[in-house]
Amino acid sequence: MPENIPFIQNYHARTRHHFEAYAAGPGQLDWDAQPAPFRHFHGAPCLSLPLSADQFERPWHDPAPTAAVPAGLDSIGAVLELSFGLSAWKSWGPSRWALRCNPSSGNLHPTESYLLCRGIPGLADGVHHYDPLQHQLESRALLNPGGSPCLLLGLSSIMWREAWKYGERAFRYCQLDLGHALGAIAYAAQLLGWQARPLALGSERLAKLLGLNRSEDFPSTPYPFTEAEEPEILLALQAPGLPPPSPGQLQALEAELQAASWQGQASLIDPDPGYRWPLIDQAAQASRLPDDWLASLPASHPDPLPPLPAPDPDAANTPGHAALIRQRRSGQRYNPRLPLAKDAFYRMLDALLPRPETAPWPVLPSAARVHLLLFVERVEGLPPGLYLLPRSPAGAEALRRDIAPDDGRFTGQAAVARHDPDCPPHLGLICLAPLELSELQRLARALSCHQDIAATGAFTLGFLARMEEALALGADHYRHLLREAGLLGQILYLEAEAAGVRGTGIGCFFDTAVTRVLGIEESGWQSLYHFTVGHLVPDSRIETGPPYPDRSP
Ligand SMILES: Cc1cc2nc3c(=O)[nH]c(=O)nc-3n(C[C@H](O)[C@H](O)[C@H](O)COP(=O)(O)O)c2cc1C
Repeated sequence: MPENIPFIQNYHARTRHHFEAYAAGPGQLDWDAQPAPFRHFHGAPCLSLPLSADQFERPWHDPAPTAAVPAGLDSIGAVLELSFGLSAWKSWGPSRWALRCNPSSGNLHPTESYLLCRGIPGLADGVHHYDPLQHQLESRALLNPGGSPCLLLGLSSIMWREAWKYGERAFRYCQLDLGHALGAIAYAAQLLGWQARPLALGSERLAKLLGLNRSEDFPSTPYPFTEAEEPEILLALQAPGLPPPSPGQLQALEAELQAASWQGQASLIDPDPGYRWPLIDQAAQASRLPDDWLASLPASHPDPLPPLPAPDPDAANTPGHAALIRQRRSGQRYNPRLPLAKDAFYRMLDALLPRPETAPWPVLPSAARVHLLLFVERVEGLPPGLYLLPRSPAGAEALRRDIAPDDGRFTGQAAVARHDPDCPPHLGLICLAPLELSELQRLARALSCHQDIAATGAFTLGFLARMEEALALGADHYRHLLREAGLLGQILYLEAEAAGVRGTGIGCFFDTAVTRVLGIEESGWQSLYHFTVGHLVPDSRIETGPPYPDRSP
């Protein structure tokens, strides 16, 4: 609906952090009252999945094409393990918490996942909720035997998990997390030679397909907003012999599931919320996906880029694909003195350019609309300063016009390629303003809510998009933009691990200060996310345990 567009514009404006004031959120947090991080469906039959990812191990970005693995319990166990499964248990004193293969703002994990399958050996046909705590499936609804085989993965968000800590800004975090989750699925599927692709299905139909609209199966409390699951996206996992369902097949599945008998009662997320943030539900409502949302995504640029260069062949100790995904973590402290090798830096930037047919890009088949502001702090051989990385020709044009015009606003504006023969020309990296390192670090720290990680990393990024232009296509494009930013963050997390360094997503930044520094407050550009990459300083106080201590792989 057209009135949803100004609503979402207003939501984004209202949930910006300013130097003078943060977006509305709870004043104080009682961590003992944190919403439940895991949901279960009591009474639903459970099927334990194998911890099978290591069976399929191969090098990260293996240049040799592998035959795709058939869909079965082992391969599905591997995909779910490497996308939403636990990666470790951490403990410090009396506190113990789980980490997962996908990151999440505040480690609050709003994203839930559901498998919808038919004709897969070892699995009952129907809808299953994935429980990461036990690495098992909880069977929600059974389909009648017969029908075309399919393998679909549906995602939802329990937004209250984020709203509990972050208040009104939480809807953004759910969408950034969703983007990370999409990347996690795409890379997990890549290990098996599969592709994950979204299906054109609107939010309302997705809610019915996954049983999210079945209020009788969810806890009845005076605060329904704590328990609701917001429908997000349906993906086809394209394994051998499992093409995406046609629109007619999808409709037949929907009709069958409407008539199916559903099993299991959802566990309680929060019995006693201390706050209410109705804006979150309103923003979700206003940005729901229509059925034809895929067709409204702008087409990706047809010019093929050179293939992503292979990772450093001398880095013999680079972990394999599955190991790399499991060892991904957010750095909490970085060593500000260690520089990043230039080729690793350029490779990471290159990995952020869309190559529509290779993972992870098919999971978000849109033209690149998020472009990057770089705070290059310590990269060998590059002068510290502010740089811009356009991710499409249209982005390059818009960035040059709005942020880097040749009007002397910034000194030193020049394509880095002109200075640095090592910079791959197709990156189109723009040096906006060389700065003293200390000044740059002060700026990066201040803009990222005074977080040291933004100043001590080797480089920090701001994610910029022309919001008005995107929203003109529909209010749901707000979700698509934030998901694109999250997907870029997931690429950086994994490419940083592959380069022997580490990354951290930064959801807390002063939106208005970022656009003010760039002189683009009025130009329609908005800041969506920050990220930093650097050399980790390990924290020896925190102990690490295996993700599933009671199970052997
Ligand atoms: C969208 C998003 C925003 C985040 N924002 C911050 C942040 O502002 N500061 C920070 O230190 N970590 C931030 N993180 C990192 C999370 O705290 C981290 O992912 C979570 O604690 C789980 O740990 P792990 O990534 O090591 O699995 C963010 C992560 C995501 C995905």
